[in-house]
Amino acid sequence: MNIGIIGIGYWGPNLVRNFYNNPKCKKLKVSDLRPGRLEYIKNLFPDISVTANPNELLEDKEIDAIVIATPVTTHKSLALDALRNKKHVFIEKPLTDNYDDACELVDFAKAREKIIAVGHIFQFASSVTAIKNFINEGKPGELFHFNSQRINLGPPHASINVVWDLAPHDLSILLYLFDEYPNKINAFGESRWWNGITDNAHIFMEFPSKRTAHIHISWLSSNKTRKIMLFCSNGNFEYDETKNEDDRVIFYDKGVDNRINHKESEKTKLQYGVGEITKLILPKGEPLALEVDTFLDSIKYNMEPRNNGEIGKEVVRILEIASSAIKEKVYA
Ligand SMILES: NC(=O)c1ccc[n+]([C@@H]2O[C@H](COP(=O)([O-])OP(=O)(O)OC[C@H]3O[C@@H](n4cnc5c(N)ncnc54)[C@H](O)[C@@H]3O)[C@@H](O)[C@H]2O)c1
Repeated sequence: MNIGIIGIGYWGPNLVRNFYNNPKCKKLKVSDLRPGRLEYIKNLFPDISVTANPNELLEDKEIDAIVIATPVTTHKSLALDALRNKKHVFIEKPLTDNYDDACELVDFAKAREKIIAVGHIFQFASSVTAIKNFINEGKPGELFHFNSQRINLGPPHASINVVWDLAPHDLSILLYLFDEYPNKINAFGESRWWNGITDNAHIFMEFPSKRTAHIHISWLSSNKTRKIMLFCSNGNFEYDETKNEDDRVIFYDKGVDNRINHKESEKTKLQYGVGEITKLILPKGEPLALEVDTFLDSIKYNMEPRNNGEIGKEVVRILEIASSAIKEKVYA
């Protein structure tokens, strides 16, 4: 397959490297409006052709798919152009900056029978795969609550708020693990350091199955934290992305023991069951390499990837509702 990549700023070069290293990708062409970025890529990969004009990629009949790693405000128009030119598209997260555009894009691709994949890299993280597999094996039981914290200092420049910057990662993990979409969404947010731009926020969700979720995202923490807790009927997961592989995902098979048949008179006394602690073994492989490979396979075999347009759309819907809930409250 021949691939065109548009946008090689901060994130794009990672995509270039992974497509370049994938044997299913035959020819690679890249474009950026900034000549310096093209020189940078040319130095790293002399055999890749580069151009400052993205139309050269969009209109190239030999190119099968376009990868878009530009700022979110440009995603829709570039993706529509690619689809009009009969290309499949891989669009970096978030899919678009509003829900209407996300729906239009997904419908447009469907009508043309083209694949849309969204750069939800964490759907390919080995930790998330290990959790998903462990859940499917049945030991954790019923899932109750997802709680995540993605906080750090930053960003160096703020063109979007912390919700749109950081929450897509947690949302894509959450929707992938729960395999359903929330029917109640609320949010709290404030602007402390970035005049008028939300830099600390909490998103709350409830799902049709009555599961709940809480995501905390912030640019106010000097301590980079990437933590997810998942509470289930038979125990709970702790996933800390900053820990080394052996300790990254732990399942605690313990909690308030409601599985014992207590006598009615003893029910007020809580019993804490101390069970096994399982450190999950994580599958090997770089998440981005797997994400790229899945995209190429989804084109080859005409299959929806797990990071498809529907989940991309849903992430945007939640981001939009959360942002407007925050705006209405104005905690600045
Ligand atoms: N998956 C991840 O973990 C991850 C991480 C970082 C960023 N991203 C996403 O990647 C995308 C890009 O983010 P970034 O931080 O690399 O931004 P960036 O600003 O560093 O780079 C964007 C590049 O796109 C180029 N560009 C803009 N419009 C263009 C056009 N019409 N044609 C050609 N080039 C164009 C710019 O010149 C720039 O070099 C965003 O959607 C962002 O959310 C994803």
